Amino acid sequence: MTDACARAVRAPRVVIETCVVALLSGGHVMIEDVPGVGKTVLAKSLARAAGCDYSRLQCTADLLPADVTGVTVWDQNAAEFLFRPGPVFANVVLVDEINRASPKTQSALLECMEEGQVTVDGETRVLPLPFIIIATQNPVEYEGTFPLPEAQLDRFAVRIAIGYPAPGDEAAMLLDLAARDALDHVAPVADVAAIVAARDVVDRVHADPALAAYVVGLVEATRRDARIQLGASPRAGLALLRAAKARAVIEGRGYALPDDVRGLGRSVLAHRLILTPDARARGASAEEVVADALDAVPVPL
Ligand SMILES: Nc1ncnc2c1ncn2[C@@H]1O[C@H](COP(=O)(O)OP(=O)(O)O)[C@@H](O)[C@H]1O
Ligand SMILES: [Mg+2]
Repeated sequence: MTDACARAVRAPRVVIETCVVALLSGGHVMIEDVPGVGKTVLAKSLARAAGCDYSRLQCTADLLPADVTGVTVWDQNAAEFLFRPGPVFANVVLVDEINRASPKTQSALLECMEEGQVTVDGETRVLPLPFIIIATQNPVEYEGTFPLPEAQLDRFAVRIAIGYPAPGDEAAMLLDLAARDALDHVAPVADVAAIVAARDVVDRVHADPALAAYVVGLVEATRRDARIQLGASPRAGLALLRAAKARAVIEGRGYALPDDVRGLGRSVLAHRLILTPDARARGASAEEVVADALDAVPVPL
């Protein structure tokens, strides 16, 4: 599936694979990057490669929770209330500039992410499976935004950035895109049923107790770090192990390895850490703290 997406998106392979990992492990993705680097293309090509349906939601300050979840309306002809589903009723939902939505709307979105269901007018409706939110956030422009509280960032399994294409790549991309739409290159390699089945396979991947201890070791190392005010939560450890299992499936293994954990450590952990004001002032970064934890904690086996 990574290969299928890579036909449309010029991005480091690991970035695309991390999105596939999230899809297969039931996690949600935060893409923090500037405009025009291919966030939309990435979300669309993931949906297309996975054979899933796709919707997009542009966040603004006046977006209401009902604009996200849907509303019940009175149908004159049928003489009954009908539910008109909102954009979250899709397999892959791109939530653009999530930090522009009001805290109330953000929390409605996060409820969808956590519960896989929405409650409208007292009635609970189950969201489709698979259900993955790919939210975007611009790291440069903060004016008029409502930054997500850390407790809410913790709900995202991974955070990634796409970055600018390599110099040689960018010219090739321009020529290619001038000729045709990038999405034309992407052919479905799965469907909804296959993704749901793959999630079961991920659940059954073997993880050694030593591997779980390794994950805990990493998480604890972030908590002990002097640069850190708030370290990774148990939810973070859970997300890391689950992601590692998904990576094992992608690599065709029935068991997860320390390398799976290491490859995903930064994307899964960094966005959940809060630096002390002092460390921030000295230019430290959460990514650095994760890298140091990966260096310091002994790898099992
Ligand atoms: N990394 C990339 N790979 C493929 N196409 C890209 C990439 N970056 C930009 N583009 C092209 O540039 C345009 C803007 O990309 P888009 O995905 O809408 O950016 P974003 O959503 O990050 O603002 C699209 O036409 C897209 O095809
Ligand atoms: Mg976009």
